[in-house]
Amino acid sequence: MKRTNIALIGFMGCGKSLTGKALSSRTGMGFFDADAEIEAEERAAVSDIFARLGEARFRMMETETLKRAASLTWTVIATGGGAIKNPENVKTLKKSCILFYLKSSPQTLYEHTRLSDSRPLLNVADPMGKIVELLAQRDPIYASASDCIIKCDAKSPDQIVDEIIEVFRKSR
Ligand code: S3P
Repeated sequence: MKRTNIALIGFMGCGKSLTGKALSSRTGMGFFDADAEIEAEERAAVSDIFARLGEARFRMMETETLKRAASLTWTVIATGGGAIKNPENVKTLKKSCILFYLKSSPQTLYEHTRLSDSRPLLNVADPMGKIVELLAQRDPIYASASDCIIKCDAKSPDQIVDEIIEVFRKSR
């Protein structure tokens, strides 16, 4: 299968949804936001799904949603930050997507997430400590799952989109 999709992976607050929307409007590709799809299907916010049904159930929904996303063509897929923890999800995405890791420092991620309470994993007494802890576990997974790492600190959304488009064009 030819990889005609773009999947954006990376930590909470790295800008996957924002970048995905911008990429979609710049390229004319479709846009699929995995968390938003789950929320629409469940008619509930991710934080409510975690609270009501638990993380394990959310992860099952995520796996099914990503299968649906990966079956599309010419689409930018914004994944949830924990999606790559399950190797099955990475395998699913790899079938049809070029994977871009939007890499940011803990400080940037903290700045981007601190005003929102929509992320259950960061609703803790020390969110910065949690970011550092989770990022240490996940950064190697994001890096090895990705086809390309985009360093996002101190770059404008336009610069990030330009970089992704350039790599994507060359890869096709
Ligand atoms: C999660 C990231 C969230 C959402 C859920 C779990 C994670 O998505 O899927 O809260 O495990 O990192 P964003 O990365 O879009 O915030």
